[in-house]
Amino acid sequence: MHFPSAHKLKVMGLSIGTLGLLSLSSLAVSQTSPANINQLSLAATCANCHGTNGVGVPNAGMPQINHLTPDAMLTQLKAFKSGARSGTIMHQLTKGYTDEQLQTIANVLGKK
Ligand code: HEC
Repeated sequence: MHFPSAHKLKVMGLSIGTLGLLSLSSLAVSQTSPANINQLSLAATCANCHGTNGVGVPNAGMPQINHLTPDAMLTQLKAFKSGARSGTIMHQLTKGYTDEQLQTIANVLGKK
């Protein structure tokens, strides 16, 4: 599998937009290896609705998700994906990610 260079990924990160950029830069990571950047980029796809790092935006009508542990978040994401939990958007959105990607996202955004 071909991994784009870290430089290319940083350029892609810039194009995600301000929220995505904030969440990429404010997550504490010791290294910015291509693998880490990939994980942060996946988690940044949730920031438009759930806020940077899942902290939510007060009174914006979107659920805060960073109070969930990674396990609890993954359980909800898989429930949306399987259809066990219904929603207005999450049941659709989760189908666009592999189970491995959902696990990665839950690990990055879940309560530490
Ligand atoms: C377009 C806006 C949008 C995006 C993007 C989005 N969500 Fe959601 N999310 C929602 C809404 C709205 C709900 C409430 C359930 C519903 O109506 O689908 C929700 C609910 C959730 C819940 C359940 C929270 C709870 O208290 O049980 C989790 C977990 C969650 N989202 C995680 C994510 C993750 C992880 C991503 C990125 C892969 C993501 N969401 C991307 C809008 C969004």
